[in-house]
Amino acid sequence: MHPMLNTAVKAARKAGSIINRASLDLDLIKVTAKGRSDFVTEVDRAAEAAIIDVLKQAYPSHAILAEESGASHPEGGNEYTWIIDPLDGTTNFIHGFPQYAVSIGLQHNGLITQGVVYDPTRNELFTATRGRGAYLNDRRIRVSRRTKLAESLIGTGFPFRKLEHLDDYVRMFKRITEATAGIRRPGAAALDLAYVACGRLDGFWEFGLSPWDMAAGSLLILESGGMISDFDGEPNYLGSGHVVCGAPRVYEQLLPMVQEVHKHPVTR
Ligand code: IPD
Ligand code: CA
Ligand code: CA
Repeated sequence: MHPMLNTAVKAARKAGSIINRASLDLDLIKVTAKGRSDFVTEVDRAAEAAIIDVLKQAYPSHAILAEESGASHPEGGNEYTWIIDPLDGTTNFIHGFPQYAVSIGLQHNGLITQGVVYDPTRNELFTATRGRGAYLNDRRIRVSRRTKLAESLIGTGFPFRKLEHLDDYVRMFKRITEATAGIRRPGAAALDLAYVACGRLDGFWEFGLSPWDMAAGSLLILESGGMISDFDGEPNYLGSGHVVCGAPRVYEQLLPMVQEVHKHPVTR
């Protein structure tokens, strides 16, 4: 395993054990709202601090972009940036709904080169290093071989915070529901991307994500033979927050359905 990936795995496992321990007594957890339907707990913060601690010890000169504590750039440290979501799926976690994960990606000169998504409830570790494939625990993973949209299971996330996207989202939802075998909304975007990478989902799309939701998962998709883009078919998903991905043939059919709505938005 690449040494940088190894460090990220160590950090993700530490965060995972903090999350698992806390999940045993959810009633004790203090929840605060950062915004509309946007919650943070002390578990998110403790997990993030543990991750940053491990990464900083190993790589003091690297920059950090973390959901709860923001960006930090040490002097001259702009070549490498760790992009961290300490607990993706906080709403699920608060409710004891076991679908959440730790996500850590490393960006090197603008490209994601290492990625870890760790599901502490199932002890499933998804990892990828650019050019070296993607893994679930010790097994190499590939996107699904499905080619027909009518047989495909598609993951998504609802735009429950940015309601300005809701009308367009519903239009996409209708088209995609009509064309596919079904849609799932598990509630943790990083894990949704990992599920596309290992073929549990054939495709996925969501509006308005943040870089920490996608950094690690996007590398899993690319390294497992999948395709990923923004709604224009361009690689700017980390910037725009809009993402569509999948097994190649599924992605090819999903993109135009999303794109058509996105090009002709309804105004609220
Ligand atoms: C959220 C989850 C969710 C997605 C939201 C994200 P958080 O992350 O990934 O699936 O729909 O847009 O913000 O806030 O639980 O880390
Ligand atoms: Ca997240
Ligand atoms: Ca989070």
